Amino acid sequence: MKDVRNVLVIGAGTMGHGIAELCALAGYSVTLVDVSEEALKKAMERIAWSLSKLEKKKGVKKDEVLSRITTSTDLPSSASNADLVIEAVVEKTEVKKEVFRTLDENCRDDVILATNTSTIPIAEIASATSKPERVLGLHFFNPPTLIRLVEIVVAEKTSEETVELAKKFVKSLGMDYITARDVPGFVVNRINLRVFGQAIKLLESGYSVEEIDACAKYRIGIPMGLFEVIDFSGVDVLYNVIREMSARGFDVELSPILEEMVREGRLGMKTGRGFYTYEGLYGRARIPKRKAYAVNPLSILAPAINEACWIVRNKVSSAEDVEKAMKLGMGYRKGVLELADVYGLDRVVEELERLGIAPDQMLRDMVDSEKLGKKSGEGFFRWRHERKSFGPVSYEKRHSYAIITLKRAERLNALNEEMWVGIRDALLEAERDEDVRAVLITGEGRAFSAGDDIAVMRSWKSVSDGKEFFERVAAPLIDTMIDCSKPLISLVNGYAYGGGMELNLLMDIVIASKGATFSVPEGLIGAFPPIASTVGFFLNRRVLRYCLTAEEIQADEALEVGIADLVVDDDQLEIAGVEVAERISELAPMSIQAVKKAKRNVLNVVRTALESAVEELIILSGTADFEEGMRAFLEKRRPVWRGE
Ligand code: NAI
Repeated sequence: MKDVRNVLVIGAGTMGHGIAELCALAGYSVTLVDVSEEALKKAMERIAWSLSKLEKKKGVKKDEVLSRITTSTDLPSSASNADLVIEAVVEKTEVKKEVFRTLDENCRDDVILATNTSTIPIAEIASATSKPERVLGLHFFNPPTLIRLVEIVVAEKTSEETVELAKKFVKSLGMDYITARDVPGFVVNRINLRVFGQAIKLLESGYSVEEIDACAKYRIGIPMGLFEVIDFSGVDVLYNVIREMSARGFDVELSPILEEMVREGRLGMKTGRGFYTYEGLYGRARIPKRKAYAVNPLSILAPAINEACWIVRNKVSSAEDVEKAMKLGMGYRKGVLELADVYGLDRVVEELERLGIAPDQMLRDMVDSEKLGKKSGEGFFRWRHERKSFGPVSYEKRHSYAIITLKRAERLNALNEEMWVGIRDALLEAERDEDVRAVLITGEGRAFSAGDDIAVMRSWKSVSDGKEFFERVAAPLIDTMIDCSKPLISLVNGYAYGGGMELNLLMDIVIASKGATFSVPEGLIGAFPPIASTVGFFLNRRVLRYCLTAEEIQADEALEVGIADLVVDDDQLEIAGVEVAERISELAPMSIQAVKKAKRNVLNVVRTALESAVEELIILSGTADFEEGMRAFLEKRRPVWRGE
């Protein structure tokens, strides 16, 4: 093939005009062909408008670029001059085949014939020509001038040479590409249909549009809500793609919701109403962030991850290309396979089974061989991973964050010496490891931590025993938490009482499950909570009420008064924590450290008060009230205080 100079773009609609502009911008001379003069006129106006914007923003020479584009309604003669052809006519097999027949008759033998079809098999279009080895799919996204990805679709008969030349050409446009085999929907549409289909199923099952979109946008990291995307590209467009793909054997259902919307003309932004209502031309959907935790992100993603496995297992595309496709084509912050690694492949399988979808064999095999993603060091990709134990406290490094678990479940994770020391050692391990950018701390079983171990406190024979314990065991952990340069995120899975709640007041972010409860009940045993009454009170005045009343604080109340930052369903606790840790890992480490340092400086202001409070507690531990409180607690009766 000689060098490509003249590109022929056929079809001057939504895609064709954008592709023509893109080619002209890259320096090619372009012939834009359409059956309709009107369409050509409109296309040139749109290109001129877009180039004016680029002229202002990026100094593009509008007139020069425009002069490289000529229009024509004469396909045969335009074809005879072309070095490369991109067809973007209506999505009708017969029309496309007719165009390719004409191309076959009029183009030179070495010209690459590409189609921008979204749903028609490339092989079927190629069958209209005598040179199927020259035919392939170049699937651009709308708008091609903004979305810098092309799916290069390789049909059974497409030659390697054609693919290589197409890659070179796509690169010359300043675009990135993935390669895919010729299966219905290629990569992006296959995965998209799973995501959109599942979003609609969730809607049918009672979740709201806003809840699903808030989860997608604010947690999964999709730039727009899913229903917002459907409204943007047109409800009818999705409707047609589903019908086309399902006719070609892709197992997807057409929801009655979509049918009704199409029937009633609620087609999205273009009609002012779709899943959302749009005010005026620039109306945007409003997606409230506070609704982001109603839906489990895996409920949206699991079928898409399963589809991605099918694609990779069947060598339609590589795992790397699947990721690139979703990131560049759909703007995902992370690809679906990386998301599977983040959330855990075991949880993906569980979710698929819950949804009644058979997990792909590849997914099953991976889970069977303990390839669970970040939590085991390997999933679709490899991750830095390490496990250690510090007495009853386990430590796990998951690539960029660590998770510390209190494992004294039989004692509701009560804080005895091994626990205090174990948590501190685990934190020091996280502090030492430069890979670790955030630390999650949680408890095993029913409690985060039910507080100080009463048995330990009862064993103190004198005030000096208590003092020794605090100085040697408790104070070092408190200091380590205050001094820690990495964000501490607690995942409160159940009771966080006494010392368990106090540790939470030293955390940077507190995520509680709906069933979690907090309290500082020290007053009931003649003691008092030193951290809550100093640091806790200093950071949040409303904590004092609970120090004075020992009232229980349920998760929703904790959220309302600012003790917890987030409350989620019990089964979402870990994934919500993982999402926050992942987010922190994406920020500049020095910026995070600066925030932590600033906080530490603030807490240093109350350090003297905290030390005095600890002294006060040690003094209290030698009083008759403390002795009576402890005894009453163990005997499960009301204590009788001196002077009562
Ligand atoms: P469109 O309806 O906006 O434009 C199609 C154009 O083709 C019209 O201007 C029509 O006059 C012209 N046309 C029809 N028959 C013709 C023929 N025989 N010869 C020359 N021109 C002819 O369609 P759109 O949206 O631009 O789609 C074009 C192709 O791109 C389709 O295959 C579609 O599946 C694909 N595509 C569309 C995307 C989108 O978001 N709209 C995204 C990616 C691919």
